[in-house]
Amino acid sequence: MASIIEMRSELDDLLRQAESELTAAASLDALTQCKVAYLGKKGALTKVLRGMGSLSAVERPQLGAHANFVKSQLQEWLDAREVVLAKLASTARIEAERIDVTLPGTQARGGAMHPVTHGMAEMAQIFTHLGFSIAEGPEIEDEAHNFDALNIPPEHPARAMHDTFFVREPASATPHLLRTHTSPVQIRTMKRFLAEGNQPPLAVVAPGRVYRCDHDMTHSPMFHQVEVFRVDRKVSMAELKGVLHCFLSTYFGHAVPIRLRPSYFPFTEPSAEVDIGCVLCSGKGCRVCKQTGWLEVLGSGMIHPNVLRSVGIDPEEYSGFAFGLGVERLVMLKYGIPDLRLFFDNDVRFLHKLAQGRGDQ
Ligand code: PHE
Repeated sequence: MASIIEMRSELDDLLRQAESELTAAASLDALTQCKVAYLGKKGALTKVLRGMGSLSAVERPQLGAHANFVKSQLQEWLDAREVVLAKLASTARIEAERIDVTLPGTQARGGAMHPVTHGMAEMAQIFTHLGFSIAEGPEIEDEAHNFDALNIPPEHPARAMHDTFFVREPASATPHLLRTHTSPVQIRTMKRFLAEGNQPPLAVVAPGRVYRCDHDMTHSPMFHQVEVFRVDRKVSMAELKGVLHCFLSTYFGHAVPIRLRPSYFPFTEPSAEVDIGCVLCSGKGCRVCKQTGWLEVLGSGMIHPNVLRSVGIDPEEYSGFAFGLGVERLVMLKYGIPDLRLFFDNDVRFLHKLAQGRGDQ
């Protein structure tokens, strides 16, 4: 049987031990475990108090008072430690959830224009700055606009040069085709212009897709052209050359030498093939210009009197120039793109690099 003195000292030992354990409890869970160990139904305090039965009636309240003191002291430490631990836990959670709102975000990569679309817009804009208006025509054309009105009658050998895609349709209907060039936009635009009651001058730039059924390393069955023409009194070959020089120099960003070589198109007379001094070797001769120092970039000429007549413009009173250029070729030359097929692969690494080079992104 334990005496009151022994029991007191047991309580005091318990208190000392509890103090160091409670103040050392590292987490709220550990603290709960301590609480159960000391104050729980099967805890250390209950265990000591169970021996109270052996004490006298005088001793029992004395030990009881001491036990109450021990109990409230334990509770006090538990509460105090709980406050500290709860605070630590919340600080840790806040720290873990911390977001630095001043950090730069992950940049979403924006889309950019396809180099052909971009180049075509760039070219059209040079002409709109010169006072030309933008026009468009249908990609599915009829023979009348794609050929006849352009002075290419049915048996004309030039039709064979064009490698035309025909659109299958009932025999009774007018044969349709995918336009082989943007020149039919000349016809449509001039007709509409006159039908609206206007008279020349007329200055037009017409960008768009064209189709030819040749397909190899340097040709795609679909490609893009920009058609440019101007009709007025006294439009001359000199003006054509001036506009070409202005356009090509603006497009390449520096004065480029140009030369006109006699050529043939059914819808222009005279006709000229236009060369620029090679922009890659500055005319010294390289692989791209086949050592000639010159690059052929477009076809041009003075609008044939038959073409003006076909839309109802009097060629005795008016004249005009026209030219048509291949967009892919000019974009390749300006941006140093080595292979036409890159335009159609749509590899985002290629497209992104070009857009970056242009400063789009
Ligand atoms: N349409 C011609 C072609 O596609 C280009 C051209 C246009 C030539 C206008 C002269 C005048 O080859």
